[in-house]
Amino acid sequence: MVRCERVQNEFTDQADQLLPPEFRPKFGVVLGSGLGQVIDDFELVGKVGYAEINGLPVSGVPGHAGSLCFVRIEGVDAVIAAGRVHLYEGWSAKEVTAMVRLFAMLGVRSVLLTNAAGTLRRNQAPGGWMALTDHLNLQTTSPLEGGPNFVDMTNVYDEATNRLLKKAASENSLALQEGVYAAVRGPQYETPAEVRMLGGLGADAVGMSTVLEAIQARALGLKVVGLSRLTNWAAGLGESEISHGEVIEGQSDAAKELGVFLRALAQDF
Ligand code: HPA
Repeated sequence: MVRCERVQNEFTDQADQLLPPEFRPKFGVVLGSGLGQVIDDFELVGKVGYAEINGLPVSGVPGHAGSLCFVRIEGVDAVIAAGRVHLYEGWSAKEVTAMVRLFAMLGVRSVLLTNAAGTLRRNQAPGGWMALTDHLNLQTTSPLEGGPNFVDMTNVYDEATNRLLKKAASENSLALQEGVYAAVRGPQYETPAEVRMLGGLGADAVGMSTVLEAIQARALGLKVVGLSRLTNWAAGLGESEISHGEVIEGQSDAAKELGVFLRALAQDF
């Protein structure tokens, strides 16, 4: 059975074999750095290692090979990708967006893209969240390269779902603001001069993922929501230097809070 007749891609022949029996995921979630623990919050119906899926890039970093988790959230079937690959590891734009095409083949209609990001806004301290209203693609590539694919990017991130996130944040006393996410290639963090430039360009937060996936998802007609966990002050704004340890640290609270957002969204996403 072909679940989504409009979409034909590299996963067409595998999609149905991957799904647990009677499982129809309504939405997909890509987890950003340090957010993997959120899986423990939900009923796990099934799990497949990325290495078992033909055509899905597998990170070479030990312990980060990745798994696709089929979960039930408030009675809604969803698929969560625990582990993502990045341009800075040497993968292409096409490869880093393979998960979104797989999601589409599995029949999802919406995707939540999460990430860890540095904050540029003085009134938006690390430890909070930013729902994306828009992005700056500074990664100098696109998953749509190679085909004429002039996709409109006026409304990439779904406003109605952002309103649900804001409601969930205020009901649960979680710090959430909205803003513009700038995606850079990395893997090094920015210089303070680069951060000043990003601020001048209109960025509120900076990270190294998400936008290529968002572009791919819009090209497939999926609803997109982006959620950044603000893990640190962008370079030059804080007291200390940025380390990957700092970015991962304190993410166990973040995973719990993400669970709150996911439960709040599940019915309407
Ligand atoms: N810059 C880029 N990527 C990041 C940052 C940052 O400050 N924090 C987490 N990911």
